[in-house]
Amino acid sequence: MEEMISKVLIDQDTLKKRVAEIGEQLTNDYRGKELLVIGIFKGAVPFLADLIREIKIPLRYDFMAVSSYGSGAVSSGAVRILKDLDTTVEDSHVLIVEDIVDTGLTLKYLKENLARRHPLSLKIVTLLDKPDRRKVDISPDYNGFTIPNEFVVGYGLDYDEKFRNLPYVGILKPEVYEK
Ligand code: IMP
Ligand code: MG
Repeated sequence: MEEMISKVLIDQDTLKKRVAEIGEQLTNDYRGKELLVIGIFKGAVPFLADLIREIKIPLRYDFMAVSSYGSGAVSSGAVRILKDLDTTVEDSHVLIVEDIVDTGLTLKYLKENLARRHPLSLKIVTLLDKPDRRKVDISPDYNGFTIPNEFVVGYGLDYDEKFRNLPYVGILKPEVYEK
C-alpha cells in the first residue's frame, strides 16, 4: 500500500496536533450548548473518531451517507441520501464533519437539506479543503488543512474504496490511476 504513495502530505503527528487544536476551539465555541456532530460516511469516520475525543463537552453524534450523481464537468450537484439521521435536529446545534471539500457540491446539498430541518445552528468542519476545485460558493467554518489540487488518500480518504486505513494523508502515484 505504502509503495503506491508518492508523497506524505500530512503526517500522523501533524494530523494529531491539528485535530487537537480544532477540538479545543470547538470545545470553547460550543460550551453550554447541545451539540450534535454529524459525520458523513465513509471518509469522515477516522477524523470524527479522533475529533470527538478532543471535544471536552457533552455531545451526541450520528451519521449520514450520501452518493453523488454525475461526475466531472457535467456533474449536476444532485446528491442522494443513502442513510439519513436516526435523530431529529431541532433542539441541537449541528456540526457537519466531512473529510474534504472539493467542488463543494456535496456539502452545499447537505447544508441546504439540514437547514430545512431547523437546527439551532449549522456549521461545517472539514479535515481538508481544496479551494482550487470549488464549483459552488461554500466554505467550511472550521478547516484542518488547505491543500493543493492533488488527489489524496488516507485517514479516511479513498481511491476506489482503498487506502482509507493509512494513518497519514498522502498523494497517490499516477500509476495507480493509469492501471
Ligand atoms: P465534493 O462534492 O466535490 O466537494 O466532493 C467531496 C467528496 O469527494 C469527498 O467527501 C470525497 O469523498 C471525494 N473527494 C474529493 N477530493 C478527494 C481526494 O483528493 N481524495 C479522495 N476523495 C476525494
Ligand atoms: Mg470518496
